Amino acid sequence: MGSEIHVHRHDPIDRIAPEIYGHFAEHLGRCIYGGIWVGEDDRVPTEDGIRLDTVDLLRELDVPVLRWPGGCFADDYHWEDGVGPREERPTRRNAFWTQGREEVPEDSNAFGTDEFMRLCDMLDTEPYLAVNVGNGTPSEGADWAEYCNYNGDTELAQRRRENGSEEPHDVTYWGVGNESWGCGGRFSPEEYAEQYRRYATYLRSVNGMLSDEEMELVAVGHIGEDWNRDFLRALRECSDWIEGPYDLMEHMSVHRYYEAGPDTEFDDEQYFKLLARSRLVAQDIDNTVDALSTYARDSDISIIVDEWGVWHPEATNTNGLEQANTVRDAVSAAGVFDDFHDRADVVSMANIAQTVNVLQCLVQTDEETAWPTPTYQVFDLYRDHMGATALRTVVDTDEHEVEDEPFDVPLVSASASEQDDEVFVTLSNRALSSETVEIDLDLDDGSVRDSAVLFDDQDVDAHSTADNAETFTAETIDVEALGGGRFAVEAPASSVVSVTLAA
Ligand code: AHR
Repeated sequence: MGSEIHVHRHDPIDRIAPEIYGHFAEHLGRCIYGGIWVGEDDRVPTEDGIRLDTVDLLRELDVPVLRWPGGCFADDYHWEDGVGPREERPTRRNAFWTQGREEVPEDSNAFGTDEFMRLCDMLDTEPYLAVNVGNGTPSEGADWAEYCNYNGDTELAQRRRENGSEEPHDVTYWGVGNESWGCGGRFSPEEYAEQYRRYATYLRSVNGMLSDEEMELVAVGHIGEDWNRDFLRALRECSDWIEGPYDLMEHMSVHRYYEAGPDTEFDDEQYFKLLARSRLVAQDIDNTVDALSTYARDSDISIIVDEWGVWHPEATNTNGLEQANTVRDAVSAAGVFDDFHDRADVVSMANIAQTVNVLQCLVQTDEETAWPTPTYQVFDLYRDHMGATALRTVVDTDEHEVEDEPFDVPLVSASASEQDDEVFVTLSNRALSSETVEIDLDLDDGSVRDSAVLFDDQDVDAHSTADNAETFTAETIDVEALGGGRFAVEAPASSVVSVTLAA
């Protein structure tokens, strides 16, 4: 039987924050060093040490936001090591990405704050900085904010100018630590609440007084629901002599990684298991919303999924968390985006891990070239959702049962949004056979303006290399108008389809 997608044009959810299509880049393996920063290495064209082939690919995606410098690395990072003349910067251990390696990875600090801001300028993207709570101090965090955002005459603002950045960097997003319940200091929720108050108070002191830009603070959350509740309760309790403890945060973050069997040598059940587990991202969001509505009902705190994606067993410390990037991974990302759109009213940002070479990266590089992964193609195909209004979308489809998992897998996933009198529908057929999908637009009529398909004729375990990356790009697909606002498309097995309709 076929599947049906009902797009409720008259039931808008909210604007899809473009930042949902955000990215995360850490000082880990070949993400920054090698993938983005090559300095004087002249084997690839660069601008100010940043490789242009990587930048050119990312530019195509209109990257809205980039989170840096970690990840676990952020909680051992001292930003002053990475500013000023490069030859004077200290080389430090990269503590978190050392385990299991014979050689301790060292960080030359060649890529620091001003290099990161240069990258953001080149990509026209918003920077998002994670402050060191693990072994840093509140004043170190506030100084970083002053260095980045202040336009006055203080020593730190002058130092930024001397380092080549006349204008403030106007950084809006500030993460207060990273995974503070784990690699970021192993704090209990109560301990983190205390730290959070201190850091947020001093970061806030820079806001308004020193910066024209509004700063938005991100509290670390956890996918274990109790941690979020305990943190939110403790934040209230330790601030009960002050009004509005939740005014100290604009966002709460969660991270979710998932895997099922090997990166390429998986069987059919593992294919479905990965898709089932990708649904945990939506569950994490819903649980965090529940916790917020219990403790911070009157606040406007939104959710940032500031790390998400597939983490296969092949990606280990010893190989810098590198793994093959397959069609299976990309199809799972399409479903996660559909879930984000469905929650456009509560999700303000999401950052896939990680931008280049590491985990479910968008771009892979060698010493001479850079190429896009299948997941990159999903980001590209879905671009028209950015900033559009999400429309309630109901999918009537069969489910594939997955044993021992909290979720089964609907064979079709979909979402829709509207912008400038166009309705944009994206759908993925997760079945391993082709599927007839009917789209019911909930309006009298409409016409197809554009349609495209990814991964037609590709195997689910096909993965990108420098030589085959072109084969994962979108092709056109026929969409039949059935009349009365209904359309039909024959979606190939494990494919992702987009349809733009004039409405
Ligand atoms: O993305 C790799 C690591 O995963 C990050 O450093 C950390 O935040 C998470 O556990």
